[in-house]
Amino acid sequence: MDVRELVACPACGGTLSAEWSCAGCARRFEAADGVPNLRLPSDDATERVRRFYEQAPFPGYSPRESLQSLRARAAGNGFARLLDRAIPGDARIVDVGCGTGQMCLYLASADRMVVGADLTRASLALDVVYSSGVVHHTRDPRGSVGKLLELARPGGVIVLGVYNAIARIPARLRRAAARLSGYRVVPFDPILRDRSHDPERREAWIRDQYQHPEEHRHTVAEVQNWFAEHGVEYLRTYPSAVFDDTPDDLFTPAADNWGFEAWLAQIAWMRTLGREGGLFFTIGRKAKPDDVG
Ligand SMILES: C[S@@+](CC[C@H](N)C(=O)[O-])C[C@H]1O[C@@H](n2cnc3c(N)ncnc32)[C@H](O)[C@@H]1O
Repeated sequence: MDVRELVACPACGGTLSAEWSCAGCARRFEAADGVPNLRLPSDDATERVRRFYEQAPFPGYSPRESLQSLRARAAGNGFARLLDRAIPGDARIVDVGCGTGQMCLYLASADRMVVGADLTRASLALDVVYSSGVVHHTRDPRGSVGKLLELARPGGVIVLGVYNAIARIPARLRRAAARLSGYRVVPFDPILRDRSHDPERREAWIRDQYQHPEEHRHTVAEVQNWFAEHGVEYLRTYPSAVFDDTPDDLFTPAADNWGFEAWLAQIAWMRTLGREGGLFFTIGRKAKPDDVG
């Protein structure tokens, strides 16, 4: 399959040719190094975020890293392995806000087709819409999620990673201390300690975690509401918001969905997710027309 069958002109939704020009409105898009720039002029907040990441792309892996070493890094992450196991071998996947694309590289095996988009817009219906660490950096996270959900086919899965309002409290305290010391001291950040010999990734982490110009934080209940508004069935969170529920299959519903337990789990995440800045994933499935009503 050609990737052009999975993306469309961001201006009119028309079909894109081999030269990245639109059959509908005749607009032409540059494709330096084979990567098409399908971005339309955006609002000031989005522009600011784009410039921010242009200075230090996240997560900031060295250009010397090989495909194999990037895949090996991703394979070292338990969530990535579960995700890989849950996605069928012939799925079409879009990673919205893919950054430097390490998750795309990892998931691009078997017969899968993976589209990585960053500050751009993929179109058409896909089996899996994955977006990690992106929506909470947009001006209107709820509206952004609505747009993301449009990309999934009926029955398709959405995997959404955003900062958790409670789990991020430790990072917010670290940020306050960092700001007070003019970023000379960032206390208790294990990721920075791990990256002490990797200055580019260290810098990317400091900027992303402590200096971001646009940041929002969300609860499990809030994301569940966003899903419900768009006819997306809530399946589970990762880590699980249900105690003693370790998923074998990420795309199956959690054993329970009790609001009080979810709040307790989020408080516990302050300790367990503090390391990763409080990012949690919510997984849902878009309703098929027969499911409605
Ligand atoms: C924290 S990084 C996360 C990158 C990657 N998903 C990961 O988990 O490593 C956020 C990324 O989202 C992208 N981004 C922010 N706003 C966006 C938008 N409105 N549309 C597409 N990408 C966006 C940024 O350019 C940046 O690469």
